Amino acid sequence: MTERNGTETAVTVRGLVKHYGETKALDGVDLDVRQGTVLGVLGPNGAGKTTLVRVLSTLIRPDAGTAWVAGYDVLTQPRQLRRVIGLTGQYASVDESLSGRENLYMIGRLLDLSRKDARARADELLERFSLTEAAKRPAKGYSGGMRRRLDLAASMIGRPAVLYLDEPTTGLDPRTRKEVWAEVRSMVAEGATVLLTTQYMEEAEQLADELAVIDRGRVIAGGRVDELKAKVGGRTLQIRPADPSVLTAMAAVLGAGAVPDQEAGVLNVPILSDEQLTEVVGALGARGFAIAGIGTHLPSLDEVFMAVTGQKTSLGNPAEPAEKELAA
Ligand SMILES: Nc1ncnc2c1ncn2[C@@H]1O[C@H](COP(=O)(O)OP(=O)(O)OP(=O)(O)O)[C@@H](O)[C@H]1O
Ligand SMILES: [Mg+2]
Repeated sequence: MTERNGTETAVTVRGLVKHYGETKALDGVDLDVRQGTVLGVLGPNGAGKTTLVRVLSTLIRPDAGTAWVAGYDVLTQPRQLRRVIGLTGQYASVDESLSGRENLYMIGRLLDLSRKDARARADELLERFSLTEAAKRPAKGYSGGMRRRLDLAASMIGRPAVLYLDEPTTGLDPRTRKEVWAEVRSMVAEGATVLLTTQYMEEAEQLADELAVIDRGRVIAGGRVDELKAKVGGRTLQIRPADPSVLTAMAAVLGAGAVPDQEAGVLNVPILSDEQLTEVVGALGARGFAIAGIGTHLPSLDEVFMAVTGQKTSLGNPAEPAEKELAA
């Protein structure tokens, strides 16, 4: 495995268990998040994502197992640990009656910043999250996207080394979602380590270096995004002939597995090795087929989830907010 960023682990989770009566919210979770990277924790409703974030924020104690964040033990060093983390919860935590600026100032003061520093930090973050114009208005008048940005800004006040973002874009329209993604990327560029929970395959794909797919309190698959995809079904080679009417003839040459897509004008061929790729292209060339385009693509994360869990519908569909936007 190549190490794209830091090699040090910022978050280590070992054997975490948390039960609520009969419900196993966490059922033995192990995770590692390398410093300066984003771990996407992907799972359907009730998978245990928020429970995990709560344990890692020291808001609840696990029944068994433990975790270390920036070197601090969640069980024995909760106070030190809280100083190095930032949390954007699944449900907005801004004070509705206060303005955006007052919210940020108040959090700065709670974090022991001087009045001057708290003001400066609030203004800096308002600017950065494009909230300067709305800064003096009460947060109750903010749109969903503005609230979420204020939430993100709030979690950044103490310049946390490790940030937890619990479904940061659920319920946001696609444009606002992209704004939030851009902010997350810039936080990571500044050196933050991020643990991001999401129900959206696309979000994980956009932001995460590595993924942990969780379901019913257990990690059911994990690894780098491209590795996970490759595991599920290898690559598909897409060949576009200059003349679409030869698709069926091309498929016949390659035999089983090659599927013509008449509508798209391409032939899809599953590829398991580089040698096979060369062979396929060579075989078509030898028969004199003129090829206009060629490309490979990896399976989508939806396919990954389906392959590892055997179910499809339990995950949020990233197409949903797009439909909302169309309707609006
Ligand atoms: N305080 C609680 N009391 C009882 N059950 C709880 C509590 N918190 C969580 N659970 C249960 O534990 C399981 C995991 O919940 P959790 O909130 O961690 O899931 P999630 O992955 O965050 O889901 P969502 O995507 O809906 O936010 C669920 O079955 C939930 O009902
Ligand atoms: Mg949750």
